[in-house]
Amino acid sequence: MNVLGIETSCDETAAAVIKDGTTILSSVVASQIDVHHAYGGVVPELASRKHMEVIVPVVQQALQAAGVPLGRINGVAVTQGPGLVGSLLVGFSFAKSLAFAADIPYVGVDHLEGHIHSAFFAPTPPSFPFVALLVSGGHTALYRVKDFLDWDLMGKTRDDAAGEAFDKVAKMLGLGYPGGPVIDQIARKGHPDRIRFPRAFLDPASLDFSFSGVKTAVNRYLQTHPEHPNLVPDIAAGFQEAVVDVLAVKAVRAAEAAGCRHLALVGGVAANARLQGRMQAAAGEKGIVLHVPPQDLCGDNAVMIAHAGYHRLDRGEACGLKDDVYSRAGRPPAGN
Ligand code: KG4
Ligand code: ZN
Repeated sequence: MNVLGIETSCDETAAAVIKDGTTILSSVVASQIDVHHAYGGVVPELASRKHMEVIVPVVQQALQAAGVPLGRINGVAVTQGPGLVGSLLVGFSFAKSLAFAADIPYVGVDHLEGHIHSAFFAPTPPSFPFVALLVSGGHTALYRVKDFLDWDLMGKTRDDAAGEAFDKVAKMLGLGYPGGPVIDQIARKGHPDRIRFPRAFLDPASLDFSFSGVKTAVNRYLQTHPEHPNLVPDIAAGFQEAVVDVLAVKAVRAAEAAGCRHLALVGGVAANARLQGRMQAAAGEKGIVLHVPPQDLCGDNAVMIAHAGYHRLDRGEACGLKDDVYSRAGRPPAGN
């Protein structure tokens, strides 16, 4: 069974083909970083327009690279939400039209569920049940994953997402957009403990997160230290350490609380080298195995959407002509 995955929830236009829910035949990701870089963040209208421009060539390229013509695609999986409505609509409407023209089923996939599914492409996939820490630009959450399509939310951010904090701090430091990868690099030249920023652990039992405080603390530091342009590597390393500390401690605590020996780290921020290292150490100490997807599947991609969609199609789910996208977290009931 060949599934075509399509992802357009934010600023990446992606398409992929996977076979029998396990083998990646192709994965194409067209990034819009060049479009949004000058604005220091994603401009929704420009994102939709760019998706419109590239969706057809990106899908064609994915089919071609897979060596699978449309006639041998058995189903389409597409991101239905959450995300930017205009961006989602491009991919969703395209998938709907393609599926009806080709007379094959299509199914909507939750973007967050998609990120969880990227864990199955880690060098050793996690066994059920496992805890997934999802850290991206729009979301930060912990899930207890019981089966491919069965998971419970254990905790989430009460304000900024981890990636959002990286992006905002990078902007304050004049490092450009997106900030995560730049901070990851610059922090390697700094010392993580020279400048200490606050860690928000919240109450001891809580598995929720809060990153707005550390972001404000960095801002305050910059205002009170005029010499800060010389301290960028130490500020970046200190900020990153504060975020990583909380993520690593809470993820391992969640795995223990859920009685899971497997922990997955997914989402764009999962590409962070310091986070991977600290999580590996913290999990190892407790006899917990950490699973991280390859770098190209941490950020937004269509492989993860195709994988989640494969499992939904496999159990007979399909969307209809009236189904629509949703912008905020939480899957609405089917509309057809
Ligand atoms: O999963 P993703 O591609 O898109 C969303 O669903 O949001 O995540 C993008 C986020 C951005 O905030 C970006 O700065 C962050 O992931 N990111 C990183 C790294 N690479 C990407 N953050 C920290 N370190 C990195 N190496
Ligand atoms: Zn994402």
